[in-house]
Amino acid sequence: MSEIPDIPGIIEIAGIKGKVVAITGAGGGIGEAIALLLAERGAKVVLGARRPDRLEDLALRIEKNGGEAAWVRTDVTRREDLAGLVGLARERFGRLDVLVSNAGVGLISPLDELRVDDWERMIDVNLKGVLYGIAEALPVFREQGSGHFVNIVSTAGLRIVPLMSVYAGTKNAVRTVSEGLRQEAGDSLRVTVVSPGFVSTDFADGIPDPGARTQILDTMDRIAIPPQAVARAVAFAVEQPAGVDVGDIVVRPTAQD
Ligand SMILES: NC(=O)c1ccc[n+]([C@@H]2O[C@H](COP(=O)([O-])OP(=O)(O)OC[C@H]3O[C@@H](n4cnc5c(N)ncnc54)[C@H](OP(=O)(O)O)[C@@H]3O)[C@@H](O)[C@H]2O)c1
Repeated sequence: MSEIPDIPGIIEIAGIKGKVVAITGAGGGIGEAIALLLAERGAKVVLGARRPDRLEDLALRIEKNGGEAAWVRTDVTRREDLAGLVGLARERFGRLDVLVSNAGVGLISPLDELRVDDWERMIDVNLKGVLYGIAEALPVFREQGSGHFVNIVSTAGLRIVPLMSVYAGTKNAVRTVSEGLRQEAGDSLRVTVVSPGFVSTDFADGIPDPGARTQILDTMDRIAIPPQAVARAVAFAVEQPAGVDVGDIVVRPTAQD
């Protein structure tokens, strides 16, 4: 793989080295795995999530391994926080090449329980959080003449199952927006959606409905794949030459229904 010289403005050459990649939800799970893998391959990573201690710890680990990282507390439900994340990328590294919108919550439950606050939370984080990222990064990508959106969605949107309808709805809304964005983007921007299946992370810990949580944790125990599997898929999309847009990747356990 050819290397990118350390010159702002250059992303014509394929590869990851030198690219500036901002990642939301980078403090753990899939986001952390993406940050570690891309940094190991030479990306300058800009980490966002709500818990600063986790981001600081991850940035230190990356720097200890010879990588480059910056971080800022980012709650994706606040548009100004996305502005801060994108701004930090430009301030520290001079540009933004890739925005990985990974932050997400799966507050799943039967619709009959009417957990309307949880529905709203999923819309705020999973859908509006991605839209705020687009709102902040798109003008920057237009100005640069290049840029790449990577949106982490879910196989929950590909095979609709009970308990997950609102969660799947938010993920499929992102899938739809991503395709519209791809069509509007023209020949200079890239848009990738990655749909993970069951991945071994803290994702299920936040499920408030005890029955749903037990069901997801049991399935995770049986079949979940490591978050590094999703990180490799993101790396594959990022490392392609500028004219190659990897649109849609599904990464799930072989054993998943
Ligand atoms: N694990 C799976 O089986 C699975 C399957 C399909 C899709 N996914 C998707 O993969 C993505 C990552 O999930 P994961 O499995 O890695 O879950 P995770 O271990 O719970 O990590 C989620 C990350 O998102 C951050 N986050 C949550 N709310 C946020 C907010 N409002 N603003 C900014 N960051 C926020 C969390 O950090 P803070 O709490 O510090 O903010 C955490 O770093 C999600 O979009 C999820 O829907 C996961």
